[in-house]
Amino acid sequence: MRIVLGVTGGIAAYKAAHVLRGLRERGHAVRVVPTEAALRFVGAPTWEALSGEPVSTTVFEGVENVEHVRIGHEADLVVVAPATADLLARARAGMADDLLTATLLTATCPVVVAPAMHTEMWFNAATVDNVATLRARGWTVIEPASGRLTGADTGPGRLPEPDDIIQAALAATGRSAAPDSADASTVTPVAPADDSRTDESRADGALSGASVIVSAGGTREPLDPVRFLGNRSSGKQGAALAAAAATAGARVTLIAANVDSDVLASLPAGVDIEHVSTTAELEAACTAHASSADVIVMAAAVSDYRPAAAAQHKMKKTGDDLTIALVENPDILRGLVELRDAGRTRTGQLLVGFAAETGSHDTSAESLAQAKLLRKGCDLLVFNDVSGDRAFGHDDNAVVVYRAGADGAEEVARSEGSKAHVSNDVIAAVAAERSR
Ligand code: CTP
Repeated sequence: MRIVLGVTGGIAAYKAAHVLRGLRERGHAVRVVPTEAALRFVGAPTWEALSGEPVSTTVFEGVENVEHVRIGHEADLVVVAPATADLLARARAGMADDLLTATLLTATCPVVVAPAMHTEMWFNAATVDNVATLRARGWTVIEPASGRLTGADTGPGRLPEPDDIIQAALAATGRSAAPDSADASTVTPVAPADDSRTDESRADGALSGASVIVSAGGTREPLDPVRFLGNRSSGKQGAALAAAAATAGARVTLIAANVDSDVLASLPAGVDIEHVSTTAELEAACTAHASSADVIVMAAAVSDYRPAAAAQHKMKKTGDDLTIALVENPDILRGLVELRDAGRTRTGQLLVGFAAETGSHDTSAESLAQAKLLRKGCDLLVFNDVSGDRAFGHDDNAVVVYRAGADGAEEVARSEGSKAHVSNDVIAAVAAERSR
């Protein structure tokens, strides 16, 4: 492929040199188009030496070749890393005041940008608006990583690791991160979970650049220092969903509520894991991600009640029956829906609930799930029938996915098989819902 690598003036410009090398090692031809400010961080000789191509920043060089149009026209992919708030604003406004923005205006290929800036700039309403507009125009805007920024401050705004940028960029063109030619040893492709290999190509790229949060496992509410009120969720389905979303090109954070390490070990590299235990911790983690997530999948089994008070010391039996007072936990999914409806989350955010139902003597499990979708107010609901001990801890599952349509719950997918297979189908339904 012929790739244009735009580099803008941020401290993370040096990381773009690794992106460049990684793309070259995979056999792609790369033309670097830095801004003037980028050259204050990393000079033209570095870009020319690593790319083997000339570097210019202005439309007034190479005029005889009409470079400002040709570079964009000939590109199969444009990647901008790092992309400053200024670049996002200029691109959104359609400005063409340097070679990079002119190239962006003339490019007809996929465009993938990896913003890097201070947290305040990233969350500023102008930037949020610019990012939403660029995404709506079809650009892939990769979610910045969280962590140490230029100074002592930390937070979202860090440029993601070069390998993650390469992976998201190539996924936008429908390619994997495997080399175009030779030297596979330089690449660490994301390993699909379990038997998802056969489904991988179907899901690949469908969530390219999207930020996906998946909660998994089951919350535990302490009764005393050694006992808890919990449930039988293993987290396998949530972990498989996280893997499927990563395979589909998303940046994934798995919020793991008491998930065994062997389940987490099956996750592909690049999936961030946050550990929580109680419902309150899960709620805090989900809410913290709500403003920047494109998709939140609530696969965790959440304890609806917690002991009114946890004993500080191990409780001793008294010879009498014991009654424990329970108080209701917040409904996390409902809270996320409320935040979204109040416009306090990312535009177009998709919320996915799960419902494990057994049905009752007079109501089928399906109709309970459909009613739950409407009651919770989420966009999609993944229903699984847990009557007769199905689902919990097993490797197989059977689900029906419903969407909230104008006339109530509409079935959009049905899947049965390994949790990896089911996850690919659920993620495909999520991607389809996002592009409706
Ligand atoms: N959920 C949640 N917070 C809770 C309870 C559930 O976010 N306190 C989420 C689950 O993660 C799941 C969905 O809501 O995605 C449905 O969970 P479920 O336990 O089936 O629903 P409940 O709201 O507990 O409904 P009910 O007790 O009536 O079955």
